[in-house]
Amino acid sequence: MKKITKAVFPVAGMGSRFLPATKASPKEMMPVVDKPLIQYAVEEAVAAGITDMVFITGRNKRAIEDHFDKAYEMESELEAKGKHELLRLVQETVPAHINCIYIRQAEPLGLGHAVLCAAPVVGDEPFAVLLADDLIDADPPVLKQMVDVFDAHPNSLLGVQNVPPTDTGAYGIVCIEPDGDGMQQVTAIVEKPAPEQAPSNLAVIGRYILTPRIFHHLRRVQTGTGGEIQLTDAIAAQLAEETVLAFPFHGIRYDCGSKLGYLKATIAFGRKHAEVGQAFTEYLASLNIGGRP
Ligand code: UTP
Repeated sequence: MKKITKAVFPVAGMGSRFLPATKASPKEMMPVVDKPLIQYAVEEAVAAGITDMVFITGRNKRAIEDHFDKAYEMESELEAKGKHELLRLVQETVPAHINCIYIRQAEPLGLGHAVLCAAPVVGDEPFAVLLADDLIDADPPVLKQMVDVFDAHPNSLLGVQNVPPTDTGAYGIVCIEPDGDGMQQVTAIVEKPAPEQAPSNLAVIGRYILTPRIFHHLRRVQTGTGGEIQLTDAIAAQLAEETVLAFPFHGIRYDCGSKLGYLKATIAFGRKHAEVGQAFTEYLASLNIGGRP
């Protein structure tokens, strides 16, 4: 099986839970402290050895393209003012050896459809998918953990975590069983089951490694839950003919697609921030809401 060099970032969703903030810019451009969500995800992919970043963009694609592009005017202005540290930050949004590729998803027909839009660029190789609104604080970063597993077990691999049983309706939920080789094999996957119908509370979080066969299934799946083409349905079809593994990753995951998760991430990353972390922690303590996580 080939090495994983490509990562797909679906960033064409409506982001309706964050309106009006997402009216004119994608939710993946929302910052946690001083970096947009999409940059955390790209840095995670770089740390996993990925070199080709494929963004599936929607109507508000410009902000993301501009973010990872060279900013000539801003760079020469910072240079002229001797603001070298800020210049470095602006220049290093993406390392020089990384290729950024943009594909337009004309209509938000669902996550599965967004991933299918990447097929012409991904070709016949395994690839990663990262949902930037799942911000995961982990060391090593989660995609690196998953690529290491994939190198030893070259199958589709889903990042999973337990969620509260009442929350199953917001996730793809899997059933697993040990495969006899130290891994967990997915035996079933369902999209957004109501708690009383959920086969477990083990949820797929926004990190996937997929074999290219997934495109075959994505082309065939019917519109599913919510009138969208669901990645979960294509993975369910893949299960019938290929091994799919689940990976309960190590790390704290923040659901930045929801307001509460986003606020939690802001507090956690704010407290750790090199520049403002200490002052912010002291501020939180002064509010008497606890200085500990
Ligand atoms: P979500 O289910 O979080 O939907 O998408 P959303 O539209 O972004 O947000 P809400 O629910 O309206 O608030 C999961 C991921 O899939 C992408 C999103 O950008 C997000 O990263 N996505 C979703 C697409 O790229 N295209 C789609 O058609 C749907």
